[in-house]
Amino acid sequence: MRAVDIIIKKRDGLELTKEEIEFFVRGFTDGSIPDYQASSWAMAVLLKGMTPQETTDLTMAMVNSGETLDLSPAVPLAVDKHSSGGVGDKTTLVVEPLVAACGLPVGKMSGRGLGFTGGTLDKMESIPGFRVNLTQEEFLSQLKEIGLVLAGQTAILAPADGKFYALRDVSGTVDSIPLIASSIMSKKIAAGAQAIVLDVKIGLGAFMATQEEAKDLAKFMVDIAHLAGRKAVALISDMNQPLGIAVGNILEVKEAINTLQGRGPASFREHCLDVAEQMLILGEAAADGNEAREKAVQALKDGSAWMKFVELVKAQGGDASYVEDPDKFPEAVIIEVVTSPEAGYLSQIHARIVGETAVDLGAGRAKKDDQIDHTVGIEILREVGDRINAGDDLFIIHAANQADLDLARERLLKAHKWSDSPVDRLPLVYDIIR
Ligand code: URA
Repeated sequence: MRAVDIIIKKRDGLELTKEEIEFFVRGFTDGSIPDYQASSWAMAVLLKGMTPQETTDLTMAMVNSGETLDLSPAVPLAVDKHSSGGVGDKTTLVVEPLVAACGLPVGKMSGRGLGFTGGTLDKMESIPGFRVNLTQEEFLSQLKEIGLVLAGQTAILAPADGKFYALRDVSGTVDSIPLIASSIMSKKIAAGAQAIVLDVKIGLGAFMATQEEAKDLAKFMVDIAHLAGRKAVALISDMNQPLGIAVGNILEVKEAINTLQGRGPASFREHCLDVAEQMLILGEAAADGNEAREKAVQALKDGSAWMKFVELVKAQGGDASYVEDPDKFPEAVIIEVVTSPEAGYLSQIHARIVGETAVDLGAGRAKKDDQIDHTVGIEILREVGDRINAGDDLFIIHAANQADLDLARERLLKAHKWSDSPVDRLPLVYDIIR
């Protein structure tokens, strides 16, 4: 078999066999298929799509590119969650300790920023010393000991996805249903999750722009989970405007801390409770939605979710003094509050523009090996539906230099739209796919 023939076959819109997909994934993982062929293939997949069978084969080929974790010696029923990617989406940082505090252990393998969306690992690495590269033994023993792990993709688990993910980030091949579905599900299956809550984002700041696309993605993933013998449920949730206030790594960690301490933005807190509720039900830690919600609210209220987060930071080598006193985190060189040039009801805060602006400020990567600036980012102070006056604070930019700040200000003003008549608030969740 030759890689180029497989690229051409997909380019021509034909269905690949399991053997061809396995050959390609194996070759890319061991380095015999170079980046340029892999990105060309990913582009062909993005343009021509894949059948459910091809997507399942791709998922399993990526799972089999490394080892798989068996979490059963550590936990009776391992539950995990995964977002399809959004702007300001720091849900994992709140939900995982929250659910663990409710007695449901979570061992999660997360990703880095992708395109205009942020990544959990980049956020957690804002905490000095926090290690995301754990060995399999460390992963398992931490899960057993404290019931919570937040690790990166290791060279052992789904290494093919790790390589593809980094390549897709910088080759315009992120927003493809089969590539996203196989990327997410390979990580979840390899990391041993028995039950998975999928948070599929829809809207301007998501890879899926329409409800139909989001539902397709959700169905693909739920079906793959079932084929692999796992339980799964998918929330279709809003990503037209950024989630919460903070976009950017340290800023998002601070917002997660605030939320865990009961002070975060109301809509973000609600979203976290929605996800936690589904995890607690799927993980059999609650009989129904009401019980799950009550447990989750209680874990926020009594401080146990916050204590779990601190435990997690310490367990993975992070300097907990930063999360205990967030003023210790370094700040960006320039911080500017931008006020509203107009009065009216906010009708749009374009999440994708906000995400792209954050990446350009240095919060994400333009090339694979780019270094992230953890201090930079944006605080979006208003929500769609808010009534504001001209001169009210609108957003805050945290930038590394004046030129970046000027550019960001101009783009972020364009991301906001005003209306003279009242505007409905955006829903948090549109649908649940089982
Ligand atoms: N999250 C992932 O893990 N992979 C994708 O491709 C998109 C979001």
